[in-house]
Amino acid sequence: MKWPPQGRSQVQLGNEEKDIDSSDLSKGRFGSLLLSMPPGRILISQAKLRARVRELGVTISRHYRRHLPPGEKPLFLGVMNGALFFFTDLLRAVDLDDVEISTLRVSSYAGTQSAGTLRGLKALGDSFNGRHVLIVDDILDTGLTLSALVTRLKELGAADVKTCILLEKRRKHDVPIKPDWLGFKIEDEFVVGYGLDLDGKYRALKQIRVLKTPDQ
Ligand code: IMP
Ligand code: MG
Repeated sequence: MKWPPQGRSQVQLGNEEKDIDSSDLSKGRFGSLLLSMPPGRILISQAKLRARVRELGVTISRHYRRHLPPGEKPLFLGVMNGALFFFTDLLRAVDLDDVEISTLRVSSYAGTQSAGTLRGLKALGDSFNGRHVLIVDDILDTGLTLSALVTRLKELGAADVKTCILLEKRRKHDVPIKPDWLGFKIEDEFVVGYGLDLDGKYRALKQIRVLKTPDQ
């Protein structure tokens, strides 16, 4: 696009498209446009995400090619909504003859943090019996979600449960758990983008960004 644009044009600012007029630019009305820029500093760029997801796809494909009993296909289980982007990108990066795909939604009860207090686990049916399941989730923070999910799938008779997590915070998890495959270790900071949200916001950002905390 020619810059500055002539006449009315759509510009992409952060994640938003703005309809602007070249006269707005000449009058110096940049302020409101800049307000729509994504928040926080970029922690992991789109290129880094892409490269790491590709590596994980290769490693995971190799693992299942070697370890699946003949005739079995793995069941990849994406935890929504946070793992939405990661899950679909990972599935594209995986090279296996047949993969079954499913998603589920779990959420922690606000404020209560004892193990197992997760909504959504009871509703899981018996379709996991004997299956080789790969849980794909966005982030390991307290460890509660992942450990409760692994426990539940084993209770439901899964033959094997592996985990692939995009981000792990460098902190002591309340429930000790180690992902089988991990994208990136990060500091104990609140991050958004690439599926991760803050109260429903910033999920669609293309990069992982660190949100400023009020005391910064
Ligand atoms: P857990 O504390 O390990 O059970 O993680 C629970 C969920 O909290 C994750 O799956 C995310 O959806 C959410 N979460 C934890 N830390 C962050 C963060 O830094 N940004 C956005 N969501 C987060
Ligand atoms: Mg989650």
